[in-house]
Amino acid sequence: MARALEPKEPDQVGARLLEASVRNSYDPHLDIDWDAPLAVGKAYMPFERVSLYGTDLWRGLSEEQRIELSKHEIASVAGVGLWFEIILMQLLVRYAYDLDPTSPHAQYALTEVGDETRHSIMFAKAIARFGAPVYGPGRTIHELGRIYKTFAGGPSMFAAVLVAEETTDRLQRSTMDNPDMQPLIRMVNRIHVVEEARHVRYAREEVIRAVPKLNRAQLEFHRIATAVVAFAVIDSLINPKVYLSVGIDPREGRAAALANPNFHETRRWMAEKVMEFLTDVGMVGGPSKAILRRAHLLR
Ligand SMILES: [Fe+2]
Ligand SMILES: [Fe+2]
Repeated sequence: MARALEPKEPDQVGARLLEASVRNSYDPHLDIDWDAPLAVGKAYMPFERVSLYGTDLWRGLSEEQRIELSKHEIASVAGVGLWFEIILMQLLVRYAYDLDPTSPHAQYALTEVGDETRHSIMFAKAIARFGAPVYGPGRTIHELGRIYKTFAGGPSMFAAVLVAEETTDRLQRSTMDNPDMQPLIRMVNRIHVVEEARHVRYAREEVIRAVPKLNRAQLEFHRIATAVVAFAVIDSLINPKVYLSVGIDPREGRAAALANPNFHETRRWMAEKVMEFLTDVGMVGGPSKAILRRAHLLR
């Protein structure tokens, strides 16, 4: 077994992550200048990651419209990210319910809840600053999320959290060091990337510890649960209403995005690292792979 996939002691992991959190955490109220003017002529995410990039609809958009659509798509990602963070907070609080609160393992779970409360406020403030709607994942997924956050548990819970965190993380990393991008979104993404790196570590260690304890039937169950939630999350990130911002009918825009090979590639690129990890650890395999391929998370 590769060293990185050897289970580690939970309290050791927790203690290291707590130390890092004390050293490097942000407060969106203090660390972001919300009054700074938005830069004119700068995109909000790289054009090649916008869902319509490369389509006929894209070719029909002016430079200003392309920037506008990039703003609404990143606002949608932030809104759906925020929705998932609120789910995650509830999952983590339920998880901590059974832990010894004096242990570093439990205290890091609670610290992560604290991080996510600040992130959700940060994303909400960014959406408001952009003057974009809070798009969210749509009515049906919103309601299914209510059931999910009440009952999810075990390794598929942490694996699905990883898919949500690592896919958005990859997109955010591609903007944070790019001087052509809007400064406000670069700062928001930089803060998020720093703190999410710890969340990813925590969730990966949870999955590494839990998978070897599953029997065959449990493993297949958790694989499928992971794939279904991964599909729902990735498919919700771009709310079809974003296309209204550039005068495109939501149904037409959504159909063009779903048929766009460049957008499929973007999804696989976003999921590349987390799929590699989940495959190595055994959480991607068997019938669940068909679901992940349909979601364009796997080739
Ligand atoms: Fe977050
Ligand atoms: Fe997180």
